[in-house]
Amino acid sequence: MSIEILSQELSQVQVQDEHALEQFRIRFLGSKNVLKDLYAAIKDIPNEEKRSYGQQVNALKERAEQIYHEAKAALTQTLQSSHAEDLTKPAGDPMVGAHHPLSLIRREIIEIFNKIGFVVSEGPEIEDDWHNFTALNFPPEHPARDMQDTFFIQKGANELALRTHTSSVQVRVMENQAPPIRTISPGRVYRNEAISARAHCFFHQVEGLYIDKGVSFADLKQTLLYFAQALFGPQTQIRMRPSYFPFTEPSAEVDVSCSLCNAQGCNVCKYTGWLEIMGCGMVDPNVLEACGIDSNEYTGYAFGMGVERIAQLKYRVTDLRLYSENDVRFLKQFKPGML
Ligand code: DAH
Repeated sequence: MSIEILSQELSQVQVQDEHALEQFRIRFLGSKNVLKDLYAAIKDIPNEEKRSYGQQVNALKERAEQIYHEAKAALTQTLQSSHAEDLTKPAGDPMVGAHHPLSLIRREIIEIFNKIGFVVSEGPEIEDDWHNFTALNFPPEHPARDMQDTFFIQKGANELALRTHTSSVQVRVMENQAPPIRTISPGRVYRNEAISARAHCFFHQVEGLYIDKGVSFADLKQTLLYFAQALFGPQTQIRMRPSYFPFTEPSAEVDVSCSLCNAQGCNVCKYTGWLEIMGCGMVDPNVLEACGIDSNEYTGYAFGMGVERIAQLKYRVTDLRLYSENDVRFLKQFKPGML
């Protein structure tokens, strides 16, 4: 092996662990090391070149020794620092995780309604046409049934769908319980939408339903005012705008006064002072009848809100995708004490 080749090898060598260190020692410094042949060859070198040749081989040897000692020192140091833990040290604080912002809001909404007697009910995310649409008074040709909105699932001869709203749980509760009914249904819903900052193919809703004798629109309004003030603060106002849903009559959309700018106008409320947070209305008699409840005896109200929307307003989350990307830099901001 020539001086040049070994010198090049030394300039590139990397000793990363103890095994490599030992291999290096055997090759360059061991009893049968590669430099021995170079020393042995001195006798065949012409006299006038012997001196320079010898110096080069010596330099190689010194370089090899230097590499060996440096690598050994570096390895011992990493080994020591990995054992450097002081075992007598008292244990530190345990790492505290964070709840997901949607879980925080969901829990807050449930607590607010629990206080006035609403109990939680849940239903399946894979629904049939009856619970998601028909019993809720959707006409057969209603656009919401369209492929564009709904993810359909073919199961044998049955066509099922991923529920497009939690209103389907209303139907299940009314079918299975006799009034009075006072329930809220939090859950995940699905729509066939392209994912962007403002739309997602899944999101979360909380549905509310109250059925009893003599329930009126005034009850609905007062309940929603109580809710809005509990969630956004006692100064919060609500307003209702007429709207349309197949399952309620009359129907309304509910705005709360913007808590970010004290209704003065800001970019979140688009300078109106109001934020839309839910749909609501008096349960349509057709829905009561479809679920086996006598609409001459009972009336009721229903409402439905988006959890992401409310989290957006409370925590100023401007991109819906953040909720499902699991980026810890986003999630850790919701640790207790950080909000
Ligand atoms: N289901 C509606 C939606 O997904 C929300 C809704 C509106 C629910 C009015 C209701 C209601 O119970 O009364 O957009």
